[in-house]
Amino acid sequence: MEASQMTTTIFSTIVIMLLSSAIAAQSSGDVGGKPKPTDFMVGACKNVSNFSRGHNEGDKYVSQEFCISTLQSDNRSANAKNLHDLALIPVDILKERVVTAGGNVKNMLHNTKNSTSSTARHLRICELDYAATASILNFCDALMRNYQGERSAGHDDDKPLFSKLPECVDKVYEVSSYCAIALLDMPGAEALLKESHQLDMLINLSIALLAPYKDLES
Ligand SMILES: *[C@@H]1O[C@H](CO)[C@@H](O)[C@H](O)[C@H]1NC(C)=O
Ligand SMILES: *[C@@H]1O[C@H](CO)[C@@H](O)[C@H](O)[C@H]1NC(C)=O
Ligand SMILES: *[C@@H]1O[C@H](CO)[C@@H](O)[C@H](O)[C@H]1NC(C)=O
Ligand SMILES: *[C@@H]1O[C@H](CO)[C@@H](O)[C@H](O)[C@H]1NC(C)=O
Ligand SMILES: *[C@@H]1O[C@H](CO)[C@@H](O)[C@H](O)[C@H]1NC(C)=O
Repeated sequence: MEASQMTTTIFSTIVIMLLSSAIAAQSSGDVGGKPKPTDFMVGACKNVSNFSRGHNEGDKYVSQEFCISTLQSDNRSANAKNLHDLALIPVDILKERVVTAGGNVKNMLHNTKNSTSSTARHLRICELDYAATASILNFCDALMRNYQGERSAGHDDDKPLFSKLPECVDKVYEVSSYCAIALLDMPGAEALLKESHQLDMLINLSIALLAPYKDLES
């Protein structure tokens, strides 16, 4: 065999080996990079959709499928042992999405010619609302992580801190809803309204995940 041919053969062999190990890695658990849903996750999502059916209006409840696919999109869900570990995932997703949504509102505001029109006023409310929502989300996120820290430090039943978690995410829902109201009936705001609805679903998922901790109050 010529040297160049030899090199090609060795090179192809290496490529084939790398490819097959990549395929093997993928078939052993990771489906398209997503971890398989654990029993804990599936159980939590069953409870989430049950809770949500009881608490959210009409047909707008958090489905088990939405719950699982959202949690699965984050690697941490595979090792989650507690509901607040899982609840951190939609909160983290929300932190990014709210910033994006705020940017989209800002863009529409820039393109609004008449700065005193009701569209401009409503969009400014929305812009400020998303900034406030992002700020409360960061606060809730810190609260949840502080709770995790307390647990790993051995303070396992820190009830007062525990029951603040669902309260905190309830506030996120409350504050973020002003934007949806401002966007209603606004011409050309369909995309923003859809985005606000998606944020709502994630917030409702966090609320439903944390719901059992509410019972610890009192
Ligand atoms: C789901 O709810 C049931 C009944 O309230 C409870 O026993 C179970 O621990 C919950 N599962 C999870 C994963 O939270
Ligand atoms: C479903 O939710 C209701 C209240 O909304 C609760 O009473 C019931 O125990 C829940 N079932 C399960 C299996 O968690
Ligand atoms: C979220 O929950 C609220 C309050 O229960 C409900 O009114 C709203 O329709 C829900 N939103 C979505 C998108 O499911
Ligand atoms: C999830 O984990 C896999 C393998 O452990 C890794 O390749 C991938 O980059 C991780 N994804 C994220 C979003 O961290
Ligand atoms: C801007 O909107 C306000 C309120 O709708 C209206 O009174 C005003 O005439 C508009 N200005 C222009 C330049 O269209």
